[in-house]
Amino acid sequence: MHVTGAVPAAVEAAIAESFALVREASEADGVLALITSRIDDAYLAAAGPQLRIIANYGVGVDNIDLEAAARRGILVTNTPDVLTETTAELAIALTLSLLRRVTEGDRFLRARRPWGFGLEFMLGAGLGGKQFAIVGAGRIGRATARLAKAFGAEPIFAGRGELERVLPLADIVSIHCPLTPETRHLIDARALSLLRPTAVLVNTARGAIVDERALVHALRNGRLAGAALDVFEREPAVAEELLSLENVVLTPHLGSATRTTREAMGLSAVSALRSLLVEGRRPANAVTGSTIDPP
Ligand code: DGY
Repeated sequence: MHVTGAVPAAVEAAIAESFALVREASEADGVLALITSRIDDAYLAAAGPQLRIIANYGVGVDNIDLEAAARRGILVTNTPDVLTETTAELAIALTLSLLRRVTEGDRFLRARRPWGFGLEFMLGAGLGGKQFAIVGAGRIGRATARLAKAFGAEPIFAGRGELERVLPLADIVSIHCPLTPETRHLIDARALSLLRPTAVLVNTARGAIVDERALVHALRNGRLAGAALDVFEREPAVAEELLSLENVVLTPHLGSATRTTREAMGLSAVSALRSLLVEGRRPANAVTGSTIDPP
C-alpha cells in the first residue's frame, strides 16, 4: 500500500497491521491519498493496472478524477460522517468570530492600540434571529444548521437552483456543498450581488466554490459585510487582499482538524482499504458515480 503523505501515528499503526508500505503507487494495489494529492488520469496511468483502490483521507474527493478512476476500474472511497460535527463546529466558530469580531479584537490588542471599555466600542452582532442560509444540505450542512439553531438563528436551506430565492433573505451564508464542475464559482459576482450588504459569507467547504476575486471586490466595495474562510481558491496561497481586510476571518483549512477526528478519518480510510484488499468486500464508503451528493 502507498500513502501520499504523513499520517497520524495511530493511523500508521493501523496500516502496519494489515499492509506493507511501498514507496510508489506503481508498486501498490491501494493508495491512501491525502486531499492535497492530485490523483488525475496521468497519476493513475503511471500507477498502473495493479492499482485497485484510492482511499481518500477526507470527505471531499475533488482532488481525484473520478471518471478516470471509474474507467480504469479503480474504486474511490472517502471518509464521511466522522468529520461532520467537527466541520460544523468550525463553521459556527468562524461565524461567531466574524460577527462578534473576535479575531479583529485579538489583532487590535496585539497591535497595542490604546483602548478602554466603551458602550459603543467594537460592537458586533449575535446569531439570534439571523437567517442562516446553508448552501448544500448534506450531512455537514444539516449539522451546521442544527448548531446555528441552538444559537437562535433560523436555518434556511438553499438546494440546487434555489440560490436566487435564498441569498436575498440571508444574514449569513454558509457553504457546505462539494466542489464539482457544477459548483465551481457557484458564489460568483452575480450570486454575491443578490446578498444584502449586511450579510456575511462563511466557507468551510472548498475555496473554488467561491470566486475569490469577486468576493474581494464585494468586501472592498461594501457589497458584503464580511467573510470567514477556512478554504481558499489556490490553497495554500491566500490572496493578499484577503489578508489585509479587517472584516475577514481566516483559518488554514482546519474544518476536520481535531486529533480525534483526524484519527477517525484515517481509520475509516484504512478500513476501506482492508475491506477491498484483505476481505474482498466492497467498502462502505465507496464514492459512487459523480460527486454531486453533498458530504
Ligand atoms: C475534507 O475531508 O474534505 C476536508 O476538507 C479535510 O478534512
